Amino acid sequence: MRVVAGLCLLLFSAPVLAQHEKEGEKSKNPAIGNPQAIEAGRKLFANGCAACHGAEGQGGRGPNLRAQVFWHPLDDDTLYKAVQKGVGGAMPPANLPEDQAWQVVAFVRSLTAPAAENPAPGDIANGEKIFWGAAGCSNCHRVRGKGGMLGPDLSNAGMRALPDLWDSVVDPDADGALGYRAVTLTLKSGQTLKGVARNRTNYSVQLQDAQGNVHLVAMEDVTDMTIGRGSPMPKNYATRLSKQEVNDLVSYLSRLTVRPADATTKK
Ligand code: HEC
Ligand code: HEC
Repeated sequence: MRVVAGLCLLLFSAPVLAQHEKEGEKSKNPAIGNPQAIEAGRKLFANGCAACHGAEGQGGRGPNLRAQVFWHPLDDDTLYKAVQKGVGGAMPPANLPEDQAWQVVAFVRSLTAPAAENPAPGDIANGEKIFWGAAGCSNCHRVRGKGGMLGPDLSNAGMRALPDLWDSVVDPDADGALGYRAVTLTLKSGQTLKGVARNRTNYSVQLQDAQGNVHLVAMEDVTDMTIGRGSPMPKNYATRLSKQEVNDLVSYLSRLTVRPADATTKK
C-alpha cells in the first residue's frame, strides 16, 4: 500500500516540478540584477514613480516598496504587469517600452533583493579595510568569529537588501534597534553593568556586555537603570565617512554570506 502511494506521488510530482522550473526561467529577464539596467531604472523611477512612491521607494501616496508590504513578495512578471497596466484605480499605467519597463522592475527588485545577488557598487577591499580599521565597526560587530560582541553578527549581512545596509550605517536608529538598546544597570551590590539589553521584562533584564557575556539580572536586584532611546551604534558615520567610503563599506558587507564552503567565491 505504502509503496503504491509513494509511486503515485513520484509520478505526479515529476511533471509539476518541471513546469515550475520552466516558469522560473521565463520570468528571469536579463535586466534583473544588471547594474546598468538598475541605474537606468532608477532614473525612470525618479521621473515616473517617485512622486507617489518616494525617491528611494520609501513610500508616500503609494506604498513603501522597500519594506515587505506584500505578504507574498511579487515575482518579476507580476511587478512588470503592475508597472505597465497600473494597479486598481490608484496607480496609473506606465505604458513604457518593454525594455524600459524591465529596467524599472530591475530597480524595484533591487530595493529588496539580497545585496549579495547584485554586483557591489564600491571597492570591497577598501570597505574591508575601513571596517576593521578607521571606522571601528569591528569593535562591536563580528564577522566569521572575529570582532566585538555589542552589535549583531554581520557574517550574513549580504542577505540584507542594499538600501537597508546603507541605512544601517548612516541612520542606525531607522530600524528601531530592538534587542540592542544601550543599558546601564546599578545593582544593590554597588556593581555597575553596561551593555545592550537583549531582552527585558518587568521582572528581569538580559544584559549583554562588550565581551559578549550575558547577565540575567532580576529587577529586584537593580537600584538604577538607564536605557538609551535608539541604537548604541555611532550616529555620525554619515559625516565622519565620505559617501565613497560608505559605498565601499556597504560593498564589503554585501559580500558577507554564510554559504556552503564550495559555493564561496575566494577573493
Ligand atoms: C499617482 C501615483 C502613483 C504613481 C505615479 C505610481 N504608483 Fe505605484 N502605486 C500607487 C498606489 C496608490 C498603489 C497601491 C494601489 C493599491 O493597492 O490599490 C501602488 C502600487 C504599486 C505597487 C504594488 C503593486 C501590488 O500589486 O501590490 C508597485 C510594485 C508599484 N506601485 C510600483 C510603481 C512603479 C514602478 C511606478 C512607476 C513606473 C509607480 N508605481 C507609479 C501609486 C502610484
Ligand atoms: C558601539 C558599537 C557599534 C559600532 C562601533 C558599530 N555598530 Fe553597527 N550596530 C551596533 C548595534 C548595537 C546594532 C544593532 C542596533 C541597530 O540596528 O542599530 C548595529 C547594527 C548594525 C547593522 C544592522 C545589522 C542587523 O542585522 O540589523 C549593520 C549593517 C551595522 N551595524 C554595520 C556597522 C558598520 C559598517 C559599522 C562601522 C562603520 C558599525 N556598524 C559600527 C553597534 C555598533
